[in-house]
Amino acid sequence: MRLRKVKHAKDYIETNTLYVIPNPEQHFGKWSKVFNNSNPIEVEIGCGKGKFVYEKALNNPNINFIGIEKFDSVIVRALERLLEEPLPNVKLIRFDAEKIEKVFKKDEVSLIYLNFSDPWPKNRQAKRRLTSLKFLNRYCKVLSNNSLIKLKTDNFPLFQFSMMSFVQHKNYTIEEINLNLYKELPVDNVQTEFEKRFVEKGNLIFYQKIRFKEEK
Ligand SMILES: C[S@@+](CC[C@H](N)C(=O)[O-])C[C@H]1O[C@@H](n2cnc3c(N)ncnc32)[C@H](O)[C@@H]1O
Repeated sequence: MRLRKVKHAKDYIETNTLYVIPNPEQHFGKWSKVFNNSNPIEVEIGCGKGKFVYEKALNNPNINFIGIEKFDSVIVRALERLLEEPLPNVKLIRFDAEKIEKVFKKDEVSLIYLNFSDPWPKNRQAKRRLTSLKFLNRYCKVLSNNSLIKLKTDNFPLFQFSMMSFVQHKNYTIEEINLNLYKELPVDNVQTEFEKRFVEKGNLIFYQKIRFKEEK
């Protein structure tokens, strides 16, 4: 069923609590109970319409995926897909990732995906970027030791900004940088909605893989 009027999205989300988890803070430290298994949990922040988390979950049944998105009108599209083609290992959270540490306990997340994050180009907006130092500090509070962050974007200023944030932060090490992901596209690459659009326009796709390590 397609929802024509996104203005009904809020109600629709609130009645489908199997997939869009209400009050996510209540599951702090207990997400394995939500999935009914202790598989690793990978999170996409800013999952939009959910194509990426859905396809990752389909290809990786032994990993649990959570998509975080702050807007009802977008996340409802991810919910529609899950209702049409249910999957046990994907859940959605309608939440602002600014408070991610209220949702997950330390060590609860084994990988964070930042796909085509909003660039917030003005200097005064820099703290809203999902790779600002404030956000990197928040991720330290949920990631497990030795875990990864994977970032894709077509926005070079955001890519550079992110690189500098990771380089400056004592807990992160950039392990891989790719300035043209599609030159030799990894076989396991899952295209996001925005990625599809940008690739069709001929934009270069930039990629970073970052390792998180606890302080010694
Ligand atoms: C440009 S879209 C990319 C969507 C998707 N990742 C893709 O690649 O197709 C960025 C999304 O991130 C969401 N977003 C931005 N900041 C967020 C935050 N602090 N918490 C949760 N979602 C956020 C936006 O609402 C938007 O849907």
